[in-house]
Amino acid sequence: MRSPAHPYPRMRIGPYTLPNNLFVAPMAGVTDRPFRKLCKQLGAGYAVSEMVTSRPDLQDSLKTSRRANHEGEAAPIAVQIAGTDAVMMADAARYNIDRGAQIIDINMGCPAKKVCNKWAGSALMQDETLALHIVEAVVQACAPHGVPVTLKMRTGWADQAKNAPTIALAAEAAGVQMLTVHGRTREQGYKGQAEHDTVARIKSLVRIPVVANGDVNSPQAARDVLARTGADAVMIGRAAQGRPWIFREIAHFLGTGTELPPPTRAELKDWMLAHLLEHYALYGEHTGVRSARKHLGWYAQSFADPAVWQASACRQRINTATTSDTQLAAVTDLFDEWDALGHLPGAMPHTSCAPRYPDTPTFESWKLAA
Ligand SMILES: Cc1cc2nc3c(=O)[nH]c(=O)nc-3n(C[C@H](O)[C@H](O)[C@H](O)COP(=O)(O)O)c2cc1C
Repeated sequence: MRSPAHPYPRMRIGPYTLPNNLFVAPMAGVTDRPFRKLCKQLGAGYAVSEMVTSRPDLQDSLKTSRRANHEGEAAPIAVQIAGTDAVMMADAARYNIDRGAQIIDINMGCPAKKVCNKWAGSALMQDETLALHIVEAVVQACAPHGVPVTLKMRTGWADQAKNAPTIALAAEAAGVQMLTVHGRTREQGYKGQAEHDTVARIKSLVRIPVVANGDVNSPQAARDVLARTGADAVMIGRAAQGRPWIFREIAHFLGTGTELPPPTRAELKDWMLAHLLEHYALYGEHTGVRSARKHLGWYAQSFADPAVWQASACRQRINTATTSDTQLAAVTDLFDEWDALGHLPGAMPHTSCAPRYPDTPTFESWKLAA
């Protein structure tokens, strides 16, 4: 049943009914708990945690335990696991369920070297037998807890090997309850455009929900990808970096057919300051101040003219601040500067403000927790 607020039927994953069909993509080093919470507050219906390793020797590392911390996060808590060994993956599922995971997502989509060298992530798609073995082991481990298992993958290994439909059917038969497909092959990395025809094909083959992912960077793109694929939901990654309010923009557009006006300066300031406080609380003063810089840079890029941002004295202060107090003060001063201007320098509607997509993510943090 469609309504203006929820133009698409509400999606279910196992026992969980989601508020809408706009998902935050898992992005290691980006979609940590503070960012996921903000995205949900600003209109996302679902978010998957950053991938955590299945290697038991790394489970107690600070990075992994931070990733497994879901305090204050709205249900359902979905945790993504990555690995190459079926027994270890099953153990990792149980480990995360014990720490609050309500949905387990298997990562078969990540092309990062550190994952693929160890035959995990999207490399698994090249070995369908092993991939299925892992899926079965994880489903079996989760079943006694009533925890649904989902799978995220690419369209295939290479252009000549787009085997996602085969894996999708096998995964459904093994008990997977939702599939997410990024419309690129492993070989492509992040080059070129995502294609969604393979997603449409998968949607026509399986009965479980299918989520389309790749290059959804505006409300119009979300509408088009949903229409083209028939997918049950869209998942948004890079376009949400520095722009978590994209979810409410998309929700509004899908519900009404009109564009939501850009956020006000006061809204942006509130969201950024609240985000920073949660960020410091999770990472602590030293790491928090430094790792917040990338988010602040993305924010600035999404609403300020790059030249003005580069020239701003506040930018220097934000990037060189070594305490949370000085970083917060620099951000507050940035908004005072822009309040004095009476506008955000270069603030544009999202349609004319395309996110800057690197061909390949270079973020140091996109690696297995180690
Ligand atoms: C920095 C970064 C980190 C990522 N980390 C993960 C990850 O941990 N697990 C995963 O399945 N995909 C990961 N991805 C892939 C995204 O979830 C998504 O599939 C991809 O970015 C395509 O969607 P987009 O075009 O909306 O960004 C990552 C992508 C980026 C850019």
